[in-house]
Amino acid sequence: MSEKIKKIGLLTSGGDAPGMNAAIRAVVRTAISHGIEVIGVKKGYDGLINGEFRELKTRDVSEIIGRGGTILYTARCEEMHTQEGLKKAATVYDVLGLDALIVIGGDGSMKGAKELSKLGVNVIGIPGTIDLDMNCTEYTIGFDTAVNTGAEAISRLRDTSSSHQRCSVIEVMGRHAPYIAYWCAMVSGAEEVLVPDRVDEKGKNEVIQQVLENRSLGKFHNLIIVAEGVGGSQELAKDIEDITGIETRATILGHLQRGGSPTAIDRMHASVMGNMAVEEAVKGNRNCIIVFNKGRYEALDMDEALSMPPKDDGGLYDVIKVLSR
Ligand code: F6P
Repeated sequence: MSEKIKKIGLLTSGGDAPGMNAAIRAVVRTAISHGIEVIGVKKGYDGLINGEFRELKTRDVSEIIGRGGTILYTARCEEMHTQEGLKKAATVYDVLGLDALIVIGGDGSMKGAKELSKLGVNVIGIPGTIDLDMNCTEYTIGFDTAVNTGAEAISRLRDTSSSHQRCSVIEVMGRHAPYIAYWCAMVSGAEEVLVPDRVDEKGKNEVIQQVLENRSLGKFHNLIIVAEGVGGSQELAKDIEDITGIETRATILGHLQRGGSPTAIDRMHASVMGNMAVEEAVKGNRNCIIVFNKGRYEALDMDEALSMPPKDDGGLYDVIKVLSR
């Protein structure tokens, strides 16, 4: 029988993602239902190292389930890449008398968590990033909202693009990952999508040929989605205009896609994952990440979770191409 958990820390780390607040609410309320004290750490690992925290009570998380961003603030912490920083973080954990640290964040934040676990910190991870770029899970909190925000923006761009019979090049977030780009392209009916694994100079030339071919097939405007990891959307727009003579505009959606009220899907995953993270700690599970695969939530051992191979695109690219004609 595991020892009873009395006190846990909670932080959000890396880029904020819509739904992080819903996960914070779920963690706090589940913990309190077990009589566990929750220490909210501000600004991610930075706040842990520098001692910025406060107790979170049930009313502190009222009215936040539908709010974007994170009430705990977040940061990308350089000190966590050093042994000194890691040791400081582990010392604060001990001094605070924490039995577990729940970390809501993406791959980088989980790698930091793994390093902390080697120093005796019991870390439970909740996947939170709009990029969906964690190999261990089919869902990361924030992805659905980011795609919906992207799709909404692209739909507005479609209106103006079709009115002027222009070509629109739209760059979406996602760091090196293709998922936001694939989903935005599919749900917006884009003709072409450029993602890091598939693009080279020839790829860009093919896009230009595609624009011309689609015009000859009777299309009067064009939508091209570019993943952030490919970049160069302004240059691509200029090349398309110079070579084809078709008026072309580039739009970079950028951080717009990180904000906004989380969708129902994000609130749902965040609530279940937040609840489960605490339940796993109560059961005595140590150093794991809550994942969602094949329709089920589970707690995966952190080492195993972080050594899984990348997912393939599930044939999305080919479908986008077939539907674009
Ligand atoms: O990881 C989320 C994300 O929004 C990426 O899509 C993007 O590349 C990065 O964060 C931007 O980071 P920052 O907000 O630090 O500029």
